[in-house]
Amino acid sequence: MINVSQQNAVLTIEIDRPDKKNALLPNMYMDMAKAIESASESDIRAVLIQGSHGCFTAGNDIADFMSKSNDQGVNETYRFMMALVNCPVPVVAKVEGLAIGIGTTLLLHCDFVYCADKAKFAMPFINLGLVPEYASSYILPRISGNLQAAELLLLGETFSAQKAFECGIVSRVVSEEALSGLVAQTLAKLVSKPKMALVQSKALLRNQNAEIEQHIITEIAAFAEAMVSEPAKEAFSAFLEKRPVNRLIYK
Ligand code: COA
Repeated sequence: MINVSQQNAVLTIEIDRPDKKNALLPNMYMDMAKAIESASESDIRAVLIQGSHGCFTAGNDIADFMSKSNDQGVNETYRFMMALVNCPVPVVAKVEGLAIGIGTTLLLHCDFVYCADKAKFAMPFINLGLVPEYASSYILPRISGNLQAAELLLLGETFSAQKAFECGIVSRVVSEEALSGLVAQTLAKLVSKPKMALVQSKALLRNQNAEIEQHIITEIAAFAEAMVSEPAKEAFSAFLEKRPVNRLIYK
């Protein structure tokens, strides 16, 4: 479900669970975490994260959210989050199709985010009775402004590639045909740079990591509480049962 490969100093992580729109399970977070952690110990100079079958990822598996309602385990997700935040080499994200939930928030921790013009984004946490995660409530106000951040996180609606670009979530929007070429070009440039300068430059750019890590932990506490709330349980059940949410329970 997570395919990891290495070529020319580039580590590629591919999310591959087509029957569930590449929704992420704990073992998939763990595989991605381990792959990213391995990047610091080898001759890797760049990491590429991509989806498959025309989809980036539909976010955390909702059945998994449901099963966590009782034990609140978030270990694998947390390990993945920290691995990506602390990845010493540049990370390039290639986004085709849907990037939902953590599919959007993980992009906030990548260095180059290239997407196809038909890509769609959403952080629908609020509609699931949840709260923002992965430091999205810290980073978005800073890169998009308070008003855009409120629109994206308090309404939780799907938004376009153009909107993602305007909000500073993606670096470039290109046609589907041009996407692979652009990604390959940037990766080729990155691997030709002097590694120590590359790593140090990234570390200097990511100078808010301590605050970001702290905010991730703060959000996780609120998220864990929200996950066992009645609105969240109802939203998860409604999705799995393919029915509308019963909003009467919000009252
Ligand atoms: N968790 C678990 N299963 C998921 C999933 C998720 N996040 N996203 C999609 N799937 C499953 C669907 O249940 C469906 O499974 P089934 O064929 O066994 O019924 C399959 O993937 C295909 O999804 P479907 O909804 O039929 O495709 P679509 O193109 O109509 O819609 C989405 C795609 C992503 C817009 C829609 O599935 C969706 O809203 N998913 C939930 C996204 C979400 O809220 N993620 C969590 C964010 S915190």
